[in-house]
Amino acid sequence: MTESSGHIASGAGCRKKRKIWLLNLLFLLAGAGILFLLWLAPPASTPAMPKDEHHAPYQTGSKRAAEKHCQECHGPEMSNPLPKQHPPPYRCLFCHRRA
Ligand code: HEC
Ligand code: HEC
Repeated sequence: MTESSGHIASGAGCRKKRKIWLLNLLFLLAGAGILFLLWLAPPASTPAMPKDEHHAPYQTGSKRAAEKHCQECHGPEMSNPLPKQHPPPYRCLFCHRRA
């Protein structure tokens, strides 16, 4: 009761409060929108490192150390070279999850 009569007494302050509330809502919606876009984006399209005997030694331990060995098979002229359209292959395990 005292709350609502206070609002009538200061109409301008009340309008200002409503504006801040609206800005907060817009901020939350923008944040949710960005999270939604991130959630939609690439990860699912990048194949994980296969879980087989070739990759078993690299499934655990330091990623940086493991990445030193990828080129032994996936480097140019090796047994399993990367396809031509492959993105710049600097940090393999940033993009390829371990299975
Ligand atoms: C001993 C050789 C060898 C090494 C070392 C190796 N790979 Fe592979 N990799 C293969 C072979 C063979 C295939 C294809 C057959 C298969 O699935 O194992 C392959 C396939 C892949 C694929 C494709 C998966 C798919 O679904 O298309 C990814 C990603 C991959 N390797 C990542 C890596 C990464 C990252 C490293 C370094 C940590 C690595 N490999 C080291 C032999 C190797
Ligand atoms: C910037 C992210 C990124 C990095 C870093 C990266 N890859 Fe990939 N890789 C991809 C994507 C995306 C694909 C799927 C490409 C496609 O299907 O055309 C892929 C595909 C592959 C494949 C499967 C190719 C095939 O014939 O299906 C192999 C093997 C592979 N990457 C190995 C590696 C290795 C080894 C490294 C490190 C030397 C590496 N990648 C670094 C994003 C990355």
